[in-house]
Formats: sequence, structure tokens, C-alpha cells
Amino acid sequence: MSAPLRQKRMTPSAIKALKGQRPIVSLTSYTTPMARLTDPHCDFLLVGDSLGMVLYGMESTVSVTMDMMIAHGQAVMRGAKQACVIVDLPFGAYQESKEQAFRNAARLLKETGCDAVKLEGGEEMAETVAFLISRGVPVLGHVGLMPQQVNTNGGYRSQGHTQAEADKIRRDAKAISEAGAFAMVIEGTVEPLAREITAEVATATIGIGASPACDGQVLVVDDMLGIFNDFKPRFVKHFASLAPLISSAVEDYANEVKARRFPAEEHTFQPRVKK
Ligand code: KIV
Repeated sequence: MSAPLRQKRMTPSAIKALKGQRPIVSLTSYTTPMARLTDPHCDFLLVGDSLGMVLYGMESTVSVTMDMMIAHGQAVMRGAKQACVIVDLPFGAYQESKEQAFRNAARLLKETGCDAVKLEGGEEMAETVAFLISRGVPVLGHVGLMPQQVNTNGGYRSQGHTQAEADKIRRDAKAISEAGAFAMVIEGTVEPLAREITAEVATATIGIGASPACDGQVLVVDDMLGIFNDFKPRFVKHFASLAPLISSAVEDYANEVKARRFPAEEHTFQPRVKK
């Protein structure tokens, strides 16, 4: 029997080429089992530094480290067969200089085997983005609401409500597109601005809380699966409600253990009968 045909992985340039063709589909993934489930349906999987909050219960993404991103990048690469895999550069790993950015981006590519890196920032990061790309690192940009700047930007509020804010985000998006990013996340940004930017820039725009006008969408997978009972930002839709299912399964398990109904006969090993 011949080996099954291996599908080719989606590349950063193939994602850019989808602009104007069809909407680009993306979700975050942080582990091998989740990557196996998301991979068949997504153009790219984002190993986002949101993992600090989603998996580790951190207050923000600021404390996430390179080692965490590498461990989870490797885990996702083990589960992804066809989607492009992009790993976030965490806070402090690229803002100091373009050389520092290259050193850490190269680590992510070499140690995880991922296809591209993501970094947050606009005009101030454009030179770094161009530097990385000219040295072989494909870059996904991230403008609008930038969670790594939570300590200076006043929290997680939607962006682009004032003319000054809108002008700044437009300049950021233009700079990142001109620097050569194959795509950029636009986070938490008002619809008319996201629409204008998407029409103006050559690169693909990926919205999260930035309206259907973007070239594609990304969500945190745990958010869209309804893993968090008590937290649903406006831009999230629960495509499933796993939290109550998990709670009720765990409650059933606890009750059966206490009543000695689990494990049952079929879950129990008996000595093999010797002939
Ligand atoms: O870290 C992350 O998961 C992200 C997405 C929310 C876009 O940046």
C-alpha cells in the first residue's frame, strides 16, 4: 500500500495571497491535542502569548518568556500538519533592538520549526520588521490594541475612537505593511477604521474584535469553545460551551469514585490465567 499523500503546509506568502480571494481562518493553539483539532480547519495556527493568561492564569501577557513560547511552539508543531504555524515573540524579546529581535526570532524558528513570528507594534517596530524579513524571518504584525503594552496604554479598551487614535493606527498599519509583513493582526479596533486599513494596505489584515471587514479572523480557541464561564468579551462568539460540560463530567467522576461505581469491572486488570 502506498503512503498517504502528505499535504503541503500553508506558507506565509500563501496566506498573503489569500487577500481579496477568500477570508483567512485562524485560531490560537498552545498544545499538541488542540493543534490536531484546529489544524484541518485553519490557514494558520497562532501560538499566541495569550497562553500566559489562558493556560497559566497570569494577569497579562507581560510575564510570558521565550522558554514558554518555545515549549508551546514545539507542542503545536507536533500536532499541525497543514496549517502555517506562527509563534509570538513575547514582551521584552524584541523591543530593545533589531538585533535582539533577530536573535530571538531565529531561536523560535530554529527550536520550534515554526513558519513565522508575530510581534506587536506599529511605526516604531517597522525597521525591526524589515530587518527580520530581509534576514529570512517572515513576520505577522499586530496593531490596534496591543496587549503587551497594557501597562502604558491604559488597559484592554477598544481603539480608534478619536481622530488622533485612528490616525496613529492607520500610520502603524501602513508602516508594518510597507515593512513587508505578510499579514497583520488588527485587534480591538472600530469597524470603519479596520475597513479603511484593509482597503489601503497590501498585506492581509486579520481581525480580532476588528469587524468582518478584515481579510481574515483570529480568536483565542479557549474563548470560542466557551472554556471560560465567567468571561466573554463582546468580540467573542461561543461556538461551543465546554465549561458546563467539563464541570458536569468532573462532578459525575467524583460522585462515581465516592460511590465506588468507578472503576468498574471493564476498567480493571485481572491476573492472566496461566495455561
Ligand atoms: O496572543 C494572542 O493570542 C494574540 C491573538 C489574540 C491575536 O495576539
